[in-house]
Amino acid sequence: MSYQNILVELRNRIGRITVNRPEKLNALNRATLEELDLAFRSLAVDAGVGAVILTGSGDKAFIAGADIKELSRLSPVEGREFALFGQGVLHRIETLGKPVLAAVNGYALGGGCEIALACTLRIASGAAKFGQPEVNLGIIPGYGGTQRLARLVGRGRAQEMILTGETIDAAEAHRIGLANQVVAAEELMSRTEAVAGTILSRGPVAVRYALDAIHRGLNMSLEEGLAYEAALFGLLCATEDMKEGTKAFLDKRKADFHGR
Ligand code: COA
Repeated sequence: MSYQNILVELRNRIGRITVNRPEKLNALNRATLEELDLAFRSLAVDAGVGAVILTGSGDKAFIAGADIKELSRLSPVEGREFALFGQGVLHRIETLGKPVLAAVNGYALGGGCEIALACTLRIASGAAKFGQPEVNLGIIPGYGGTQRLARLVGRGRAQEMILTGETIDAAEAHRIGLANQVVAAEELMSRTEAVAGTILSRGPVAVRYALDAIHRGLNMSLEEGLAYEAALFGLLCATEDMKEGTKAFLDKRKADFHGR
């Protein structure tokens, strides 16, 4: 598969997608979003891929948002379609069944912040900046920002970011729980790969079910979420991974998981 706006690589079972429009600060035009959709679809079904890292090319931006030139021309009907399509791509990322780590190397604004929010974890370089500046353009976040940001950092902080449109730095993003970790720019990729590698060394079915339980559970009552967790826990007790993981602990050796 050849792409114009993104780069897709695979190394050590980790797929890496790099949005590659540095001259436009990796802004998401329609073509780029379509390519991201295709790339995530294909990594989702590739058994050789256990985790995905999403980043931006250049040292300035992760993704500086939806392409403002394109969105400035949208009619109301097109605007709704634009939001629904983007939301669909981000939903795919959030429910990929594999961890997706955002390596946030610079500006993560608007749709860039939203796509990072749809990722499983966000590792930021010290130079990263996060924000939902849509109100400066007379619009609101349309790729799930009003929903995911409030769920992740709480309503008060989400309202502050979305209503002021102000950008926060990596340290503040870390303080409010938006960034999981902040590392030096030159260590961003190695650190993100290390975190992905740690997750890949764990029981693969357990990782997949944990992601599913957390995602679905957030849309359930606590009681329903707990019942769902218990059902998945029971199911995991039937896996080879569970037999191997518990036996390896008792044998005082490293587990050799096969995702079965
Ligand atoms: N959509 C389209 N183009 C964008 C873009 C976006 N979201 N963000 C940046 N670009 C383009 C700029 O238009 C410029 O293109 P040009 O060289 O053809 O004029 C290029 O990327 C470089 O951006 P520039 O603004 O010159 O860089 P800067 O360092 O002065 O400022 C930002 C960086 C991120 C503060 C600024 O680009 C910005 O505010 N971008 C928009 C962010 C935003 O509102 N995102 C939400 C969209 S819903």
